[in-house]
Amino acid sequence: MSQPVPSDSLWGRVPRLAYGADYSPEQWDPQVWRDDVRLMRAAGVTLVSLGIFAWSWLEPEQDRFDFDGLDEVIGLLHAGGVAVDLATPTAAPPLWFARAHPESLPVTVDGQRLAPGSRQSFCASSPAYRERAALITARLAERYGDHPAVVMWHIGNEYGNANAHCWCETSAAAFRHWLRARHGDLNTLNSRWGTAFWGQRYSDWAQVAPPRTSVGSLNPALRLDFLRFCDAEQLACYRAERDIVRAHSPGRPVTTNFMTGNFAWADYWAWAAEVDVVANDHYLTAADPHRTAELAFTADLTRGLAAGRPWLLMEHSTSAVQWQPRNTAKAPGEMRRNSLSHVARGADGALFFQWRQSASGAEMWHSAMVPHGGEDTRIHREVQRLGAEIGALAEVAGSVCEPAEAAVVWDYDAWWALELPDRPSIDMTYRDEIRAWHRALWSAGGACDVVPATATADELARYKLLLAPSHYAATRETAAAWEAYAASGGHLVVGPFSGVVDHDDRVHPGPYPGVLRELLGLRVDEFLPLAAGEQVALGDGSTGRVWAERVLPDPGTRVEARFATGPAAGDPAVLRADRGAGAVRYCATRFTDDSLRRLLTDWRAAAGCAPPPPGAGDGVETVRRRSPGGASWLFVVNHTSAPVAVPCTGRELLTGVRADGVVTVAAGDVAVVRES
Ligand code: GLA
Ligand code: GLA
Repeated sequence: MSQPVPSDSLWGRVPRLAYGADYSPEQWDPQVWRDDVRLMRAAGVTLVSLGIFAWSWLEPEQDRFDFDGLDEVIGLLHAGGVAVDLATPTAAPPLWFARAHPESLPVTVDGQRLAPGSRQSFCASSPAYRERAALITARLAERYGDHPAVVMWHIGNEYGNANAHCWCETSAAAFRHWLRARHGDLNTLNSRWGTAFWGQRYSDWAQVAPPRTSVGSLNPALRLDFLRFCDAEQLACYRAERDIVRAHSPGRPVTTNFMTGNFAWADYWAWAAEVDVVANDHYLTAADPHRTAELAFTADLTRGLAAGRPWLLMEHSTSAVQWQPRNTAKAPGEMRRNSLSHVARGADGALFFQWRQSASGAEMWHSAMVPHGGEDTRIHREVQRLGAEIGALAEVAGSVCEPAEAAVVWDYDAWWALELPDRPSIDMTYRDEIRAWHRALWSAGGACDVVPATATADELARYKLLLAPSHYAATRETAAAWEAYAASGGHLVVGPFSGVVDHDDRVHPGPYPGVLRELLGLRVDEFLPLAAGEQVALGDGSTGRVWAERVLPDPGTRVEARFATGPAAGDPAVLRADRGAGAVRYCATRFTDDSLRRLLTDWRAAAGCAPPPPGAGDGVETVRRRSPGGASWLFVVNHTSAPVAVPCTGRELLTGVRADGVVTVAAGDVAVVRES
């Protein structure tokens, strides 16, 4: 990626660093609103996302609009100095809408029409939904578009979270329309999808249908295009509302909240191009043993989507959520550490779901900034402290993270195609593998950016090490960019089962690994998936898992390690070839965490990356943000249970203490030092 340039114009008048939450005044008596504003001021809240699910409050019956309450709340917030990120309420269509338009309710893969009663109970292709959503959006945008309190717009909420895919007849018609635009004519579609197999040839567009439950396996190319189509329909809903808002509210950034860490069905590279500010929601999975590394990965991914520019943490939780099987509370200090970890990795604010804990409803047991117990609670005291600290870090706003020397490729086409049914092994999953490679660098203290498969050689040129742990579906353009990257001095590492199919899931002609074969300088003769839990030993002491391959090196390709056990015993497992000023490596297996950490540490060094900063790694994060003016801030996040000392000189912004050559960070604590 080119050097990120902070573009303050994108942020308009959004206060930064922002601190706040989703705010749902419609759940409360007007007297509580006053108390809310008082408490927000005391807690340092500067921004709230208002009215996300408030459609039935604002339009209680079709065409009867009532903005009195919202007028009053926005006025109160404005008087209290709290800025508004105003939401279109379209993630929660009212029940009157569902009754008037039962055909707008989503249909499952089995043909069951889902009942209303939750949120996102709509089919993204429904013309009636789109029409009513546009109308309420226009009313809001006309009314509040130039209100001085409104500094930003929040379209919908977590697009696709509950309704990513719909198999109804409206969707089917829209799918055919989308396919015509993508493939042109039926002959092309038949050829790209390989419909000669099992006599699936289409002779009329009317025969094309979404991949509904059938007696057995379906065409994988059909499934893949359906996933793309569904995502495109969600994005179309977002864009329609965004454009209405833009027309009435110039100069205010428009965004929607992504779920980059845990949502699989949106191509967020495409979405990122459509928002003015990238905003992300992040929830830890309590049972995930790697949750700290996961937070770092998700924040790095979100920054990658923002092309290195500052982004916004739109939601996370002060403590427990209510939607996991066991909703453990965050330990004292954990919320603060999580928030500041996001800020360290480029977030220009930290917001929560939600401001006041609901007294009823499906999320009544989800934590909030104001718990049921009110102000005098452990959580609210930490909320107040964090608000003051976020305020003390205001000078960091607009700065960008120091670019990493290593980057990992993250690609939705490769992910979706790899995890379709009828693949060689269900253990060949995507997201966990990318995270494992990022975690291996993270645990050793190394930074890692996240880049798209569409990055050009120029954009990749600033990385010394480029990692493609899993890249099953690959285009010739990507292969060419990686080739040019290596030729000009880059070091590329590619994981197994990569490069083998195109974006229609057709095997690239010629030997594996398809479009990457020449670049990698080898031929894969056979894929050899391992049994459940099986591990294989390599001659260099590392351990492989999930997968092995029978690989034949081209002349000039060196074998760095061979399989010692397993179905490929004796065959090459890690190979390396020089390419121009750089080099390429190929791994014919997936590795255990320990092996991956050791190998990546070696490969980092071999690529010429600087050693990780002193003190970083094993639960201690050191991340630097820099302003265009040359100032820099070092964040040290200590996730461990022992104090750490990290070399650094400057002023500690959270304590005011000077770091003279070293900053000492207590167990579980965070330091932010303005360096000098
Ligand atoms: C059955 C079918 C074949 C093929 C194989 C795959 O035997 O008759 O068409 O699907 O299974 O194992
Ligand atoms: C998502 C939603 C919020 C809320 C939280 C709960 O992020 O956007 O409305 O449901 O989850 O964790």
